[in-house]
Order: sequence, then C-alpha cells, then structure tokens
Amino acid sequence: MENTNPGTIRVGLVGAGFAGGIHVECLQRVHGVDVEIAGVTSATPGSREKFGRKHGIKAYDCIESMLGDIDVLSICSPPYAHAEAIIRAAEAGKGIICEKPLTGYFGPQDAGASYRGDREDKERMLDYVMQALAKIKDAVQQNGIFFGYAENFIYTPALQKEREIIEKSDAQVLRMIGEESHSGSSSPVYGIWRYAGGGSLVGKGVHPLGAVLYLKRVEGMVRHQQPIRPVSVSARTHQLTRIEDYADRGFLRTDYHDVEDYGFIHVVFEDGTVADVITSEVVLGGLYDYVEVFANNHRTRCNISPVKVVDTYNPSGRQYEDIYLVEKCSTKEGWSGVATDENFTVGYQAEMQDFMECACRGGRPASDIDLALDVTAAAYAAYLSDQNRGGEIGVPLL
Ligand SMILES: NC(=O)c1ccc[n+]([C@@H]2O[C@H](COP(=O)([O-])OP(=O)(O)OC[C@H]3O[C@@H](n4cnc5c(N)ncnc54)[C@H](O)[C@@H]3O)[C@@H](O)[C@H]2O)c1
Repeated sequence: MENTNPGTIRVGLVGAGFAGGIHVECLQRVHGVDVEIAGVTSATPGSREKFGRKHGIKAYDCIESMLGDIDVLSICSPPYAHAEAIIRAAEAGKGIICEKPLTGYFGPQDAGASYRGDREDKERMLDYVMQALAKIKDAVQQNGIFFGYAENFIYTPALQKEREIIEKSDAQVLRMIGEESHSGSSSPVYGIWRYAGGGSLVGKGVHPLGAVLYLKRVEGMVRHQQPIRPVSVSARTHQLTRIEDYADRGFLRTDYHDVEDYGFIHVVFEDGTVADVITSEVVLGGLYDYVEVFANNHRTRCNISPVKVVDTYNPSGRQYEDIYLVEKCSTKEGWSGVATDENFTVGYQAEMQDFMECACRGGRPASDIDLALDVTAAAYAAYLSDQNRGGEIGVPLL
C-alpha cells in the first residue's frame, strides 16, 4: 500500500522478541517525526500475534507480505536471518534498521543440530562473510536506501559526550579499552553458531568494537577529513564454562552449544593507535559495559551500564518482585544500583530518534552501514586470529 501521508515513516518489525520490544518502545518515543509502527512478523504465528496484540500492531505472515505497507524494515530477528531480510528490503527500495551483528557465517546450507562452528575453518568463514558484506553493501548503495546499524553504544549519552570532546578539542586517541559482558543472553538461539554466527565476540564484543571504531572514525573526520579505520586484529576466545573443572553454582548461563563465552580483541588502527575489546558471559551483577579513552590531551571513562542513578537497599527479594531495577541483575536483595531509564542511558532511544530523522529527512545516521561493515569484518578477522592462537590478521576492509 502506498504511503498516503509522505510525512509519516511506517516501520515494520522482523522479530517479536527482546530487541523487537525495545525498538517498539523507543520508536514510540521519537519526537519531531511522525512514526507509525505498521506491522510485525516473526518465525511463529503465535509469537507475532501475541506481540501484535500487546503493542496494537498488525501481524504479517512474512516479510514479503509486510513490505508493501512500510517504509522502513527494522530487523530484530536472530543474526542468521539478517542478510536475507536486508537484501529483500533493499531490493524493494525500503529503508533498513538492522540489529547487531550485521551478518555472519552460519555453517553450510544443510547445517543441522550436530554442526559445530567452533570447529569450522575460520579462513573460509572470513571469506564467506566478506562476500556477504559486499552483497549487502551493493544492495544498500545501488538502491540508495536509508540504512541504520542498530549499535546502541554509539548513541549512549556517555559516548556522544566523548565524541564532542574529541571533535572540539582536536584530540588524538592513542588507546582505548571497551567491554560488554554479563551473565548470558536470554535468547534461546544464542549459543548456537548456526543461528548466532558465533559467541561472545559477535554477540556482545561487537558493541565495544563498534564504539572504538566509531570514535576513531570521528577523530579521522576532524583531523584528516576521512575516517581512521582498523588494519589488523589479534584475538583469543575461550569456553570458560566448559573447562573440565568448571564448578557450576547455577548463577551463570552454561548451555552454549559450540561458541565461546569469553573473547578478547586487540585492534590496530591505520595510524598505529590501538584499542582492546573484552567480552564475556561470565560476569555477575548486571551488564558491565564501558569504553575508556586515553588521548593525547584528555582521558574519559564512558560508563554505559551500570549508570547508577538510584541506590536502593532491599532486605527481602520478594518486596521488589514487580519492580525493574537493572538489566541482567540476578538478585534484588541487598544494595542495588538502579538505572531509572535504560532506554536513555543505554542509547536505544537516541538511536531510534537519529534513524527516524535520517529516514524522514535524509542524511547518514551516526551508526551507519560503513561502521557495520568494518565491525563485522574485524570480528570475523578476530576469529581467524584466534584460530592462529592470537596471531595478527589484517582486517579485509571493503
Ligand atoms: N542492541 C542490543 O543491545 C541488543 C540486545 C538484544 C538483542 N539484540 C539483537 O537483536 C536480534 C534479536 O535478538 P533477541 O534477543 O530479540 O532474540 P529473540 O530470540 O528474543 O527474538 C527473535 C525473534 O525473531 C524471530 N525470528 C527468528 N527467526 C526468524 C526468521 N527467519 N524470520 C523472521 N523472524 C524470525 C523469532 O520468532 C523471535 O520473535 C539479534 O540480532 C541480537 O543480536 C541486540
């Protein structure tokens, strides 16, 4: 159906899970752009109809049936389904928002339950991913569509303040360290390579990786009118909850099929500066997300989560049963540092605001296709480095 009100951006969602819910909440908060959440589709009729009823959105059987009624497709499905959705939307001339990771390697076509991505040759994997990225880049460019890479770290108030500091103080960033860790994803397909494309590195590590790549892009644009990009990575991954002597006390998720639950990437940029990214599923106490910047003229710690606005003491967990405190905190007893509005502090709200403004008025969002391509190439180069026990690998940039 043609958009009868060209001032309105009609968004259709693929995926009725955790990320889909965040997109709806934050699209509803967008101001200055008329946004209509026009539809949702998912893998099962039950999940999309329930989600549709909850949010008052029409449920569609598939992406094709929804595409005619929307202007932007917001992709919140598991990573294995991203590339196909991107290509379909781009070929239909629709704008795209895509959750992280942009795409990846999910095994051969016939990969079944016994497939193990951790035993796959990572050179072949990187080659495949680079071809997939080239197809996505072509489809987006040739169709001239809007593309927003949903990397919320970029849109946190903390990282945007650091962007301003770098831009206005003409800083040279010499080293950075960034992390996203917690006690394990809630998605049932997380932990299975053929759905997720890997473990902590692509599930969580891409957040701080995206942030450090973004900040060097910002610096490059100020100082040289072109982005400073990553040239090589050295990485290690481990399966800490699968070591022979692991003593399971029940606090950490442990059902990872064939993926790592810890990863470390050392990134070297084309100007010789560096960043270190850490990610894991073995951190208790809620999300542990930060980016720290060491520059030639300043030092900044960007606290992404926790950002404690309220400290509350609760002697009995039952009292707070219906009160949300902070993401992934497994207990509400004792002292808790409470986030009062995670959609704001974790960047989701500013992300949707930027995407809707760009989809409506044109322009490139802060988190764009170029950043998504570099992050994905660097993440899979990291898997190849890990296969070589941490040897340095060039990032094959497009
Ligand atoms: N930015 C963030 O902080 C953040 C947080 C969580 C998840 N994510 C990302 O969002 C995406 C979804 O994660 P989630 O936690 O919401 O997963 P989820 O398992 O909670 O939900 C996935 C949804 O996708 C649907 N789906 C599965 N296969 C599909 C297919 N082939 N076509 C259409 N729909 C399909 C499922 O039915 C389900 O509704 C992932 O890429 C994940 O990495 C990002």
